Amino acid sequence: MSEPKKLFIKTYGCQMNVYDSERMSEALGGQGYVETKTPDDADMILLNTCHIREKAAEKVYSELGRFKGLKAENPDLKIGVAGCVAQAEGEEIMRRQPLVDLVVGPQSYHRLPEMEAKTRAGEKALDTDFPEEDKFEKLKNRPKAKRGPTAFLTVQEGCDKFCAFCVVPYTRGAEVSRPADRIIREAHDLVERGVREITLLGQNVNAYHGAGPNGDMTLAGLIWELNKVDGLERIRFTTSHPNDMADDLIEAHGTCDKLMPYLHLPVQSGSDRILKRMNRSHTAESYLRLIERIRAARPDIVMSGDFIVGFPEETDEDFQATMDLVEEVKYGYAYSFKYSTRPGTPAAERAQVDPAAADERLQRLQALITRHQREIQDGMVGRTVRVLFEKPGRQPGQMVGKSEYLHSVHVRGAEIATGDLKKIRITESGANSLAGELL
Ligand code: SAH
Ligand code: SF4
Ligand code: F3S
Repeated sequence: MSEPKKLFIKTYGCQMNVYDSERMSEALGGQGYVETKTPDDADMILLNTCHIREKAAEKVYSELGRFKGLKAENPDLKIGVAGCVAQAEGEEIMRRQPLVDLVVGPQSYHRLPEMEAKTRAGEKALDTDFPEEDKFEKLKNRPKAKRGPTAFLTVQEGCDKFCAFCVVPYTRGAEVSRPADRIIREAHDLVERGVREITLLGQNVNAYHGAGPNGDMTLAGLIWELNKVDGLERIRFTTSHPNDMADDLIEAHGTCDKLMPYLHLPVQSGSDRILKRMNRSHTAESYLRLIERIRAARPDIVMSGDFIVGFPEETDEDFQATMDLVEEVKYGYAYSFKYSTRPGTPAAERAQVDPAAADERLQRLQALITRHQREIQDGMVGRTVRVLFEKPGRQPGQMVGKSEYLHSVHVRGAEIATGDLKKIRITESGANSLAGELL
């Protein structure tokens, strides 16, 4: 048998890219590739790129430039660009960087094996179509290797919301849900391979409406089906849009035992004027009422969110409204970004906020979020949580895992293995994680 070829994948951006990179690696596994941790000995390098913020494309070009020496040493080395920059730039990538052999958009990963073969024949391969087929179904080349206790599973992709700042509807295309039976089959397969927690992924995951046995299924319906999978202990999902938070999903947070008490529900701004300009189609008030209902269903739920500061035309008053909303919600986690212009999106044409003012706002918002985050984390001390252990910690005899609320928890001096789910009493709250003892 010939020596396996080596594949180096570098992943940028969101969790969906992480999932996609695994699928690409499995698909190329069928072509005799095994993954390697360094580009130096690779026969194929794939950059799985993200386009969400400015200069993403420039970074990809400079990264690609650095592979020039490797290609000179190994003329058989193939270089590919995947992900959202590939989708956005297409052929332009090969024009600007002749080192690139392959450009594949997120909807075309199932064609990767053919494309790889084409590059081996000395041709360039490009595919950034949006075909009407389940690419993951076509990617079924799954080696039954054991894997860690947590996994992502894409259930929905693309977005029809067209927020005025965002490239995702252009790079990931229109919203598509995968049929429920395929997702459930994939969940069983993951559990057989050692997975105990699955995070359902979608750019708009709570808009899920995949075909089920009796018509379209909602995300809550899918979660209830997954709740029946023996050996699966935990279900999470991300990312949700406030407008798709259906009643059955809110209710599931109170009644579905495997659904974890954590919800990522981005709001982006607390100012109705800005929300309107963002094309978010919800208000600060409707968002706050929604959170009230979620907390009524599941009082201990930890909320997380995303914010953009310095969106075009944002005034001090608009920003204050964001601070007020954060003060009211008290997020356990939140991600805040300075607005970054994405060419081709409606907001790119508008009056930009002074960058120094935006920086200052971002710092103030992050300080407030950090304070709440810390308060919520500190509030766990003395409580008993269930921790799913993922790996050994840095110190000898230490294991690290996640609580229901997604806090990292360190435990020392106990017999714990990766994949164990144990009751832990929290004794300490550190900078970014908790420590506890086995009960
Ligand atoms: N579908 C998800 C988010 C996808 S992008 C949702 O609707 O929430 C992830 C986050 O990146 C967004 O929530 C937003 O906060 C941020 N983001 C997207 N475009 C941005 C831009 N142009 N500038 C700054 N942040 C942006
Ligand atoms: Fe982007 Fe808005 Fe769609 Fe989220 S909902 S992916 S922010 S357009
Ligand atoms: Fe980035 Fe594409 Fe994800 S732009 S955030 S990799 S959907």
